[in-house]
Amino acid sequence: MSYPQAGIFAVGAPSHSYLEFNTQAATSSYDFLKVVANMELLHSTATGVNVVIGVRPSIWSTIAPGEIPSGIFEFGESLIGPDGFVMPATQRDFWLWISGPSISQVYDVSHSVIDELSAYGTIAEDIAGWAYRQNRDLTGFIDGSANPSLLEAPEIALFPPEAPGGGGSILLFQKWRHSPMLFGGLSVSDQEKVIGRTKELSDEFEEEDLPPNSHVARTTLTEGGRELPIFRRNVSYGTPSDHGTVFVGFSNDQNRLHEMLKKMAGIPDGVRDALTRFTTPLTGSYYFIPSINSLRRLADQTKFHSAGPGL
Ligand code: HEM
Repeated sequence: MSYPQAGIFAVGAPSHSYLEFNTQAATSSYDFLKVVANMELLHSTATGVNVVIGVRPSIWSTIAPGEIPSGIFEFGESLIGPDGFVMPATQRDFWLWISGPSISQVYDVSHSVIDELSAYGTIAEDIAGWAYRQNRDLTGFIDGSANPSLLEAPEIALFPPEAPGGGGSILLFQKWRHSPMLFGGLSVSDQEKVIGRTKELSDEFEEEDLPPNSHVARTTLTEGGRELPIFRRNVSYGTPSDHGTVFVGFSNDQNRLHEMLKKMAGIPDGVRDALTRFTTPLTGSYYFIPSINSLRRLADQTKFHSAGPGL
């Protein structure tokens, strides 16, 4: 049996820290991950924070061959729409997501983690995220309405236990910076046409009223009449003058994530997601999120309690 990293599904935390690292040299990726796997600060429940660890797919395939499905790719090339709109590829080596009940707790843990890892990796991106009005994006719209419930999310996010990489997931991680003056300058009704849902209650549009270039229309994928969902854990970052969305999307089908991005950029059919006129992607990486069984194999077995059956 493979168990997932619990933080993927730990909703409700108001404070978040996202750390992206590059390793110092190709040979130190294994050391980096071993240090992370053994870091009590990250794994102790006494710290009061959740952590999720992601690894660049090519690094994980080298460290744990056979513990990742075949065909998983990196964000190796920027996606460029027919009008020149760019979704940049900024693939990094490691990703840590620390979330918890207060900014101080999350800050202290992140700070210590960065210090402890400084001999092995350099910080490429360090984002402090926060939940704006519980579940809203800084555009003012509820973000996550179409998300699967916690009863369904594991099936959508995780590779099945018996598959290679079972209990693991694929993460698409992007930082998007909003142009608040532009979006805020629209009437609420025009903003709703951009998103494809109502602003206050996040009500869906009737199919015939949904603009084809709305965000919802561009990101809804179907197969045989069935919707193909992903599991999103987005939050906000920033200040009134410089802010946006931290896109955190999990799936056990990487093509879904990539297809959504391509459709947003207008690559298949020239129809660009209207939302991309008001917010700009600054980064883009894919990470493999190993099961805790896989991570445990990298940890010093004497350090934690007995593995127990199945681990
Ligand atoms: C600045 C970036 C983004 C913002 C502010 C944003 C915001 C939103 C909002 C407000 C909704 C409607 C409510 C909901 O169902 O959650 C939505 C839906 C959705 N978004 Fe995004 N989003 C962003 C980027 C992305 C990206 C990059 C992807 C995929 C790669 C994506 C995938 C989806 C999906 C799958 C839905 C549900 C569509 C449906 O109704 O079936 N979003 N997003």
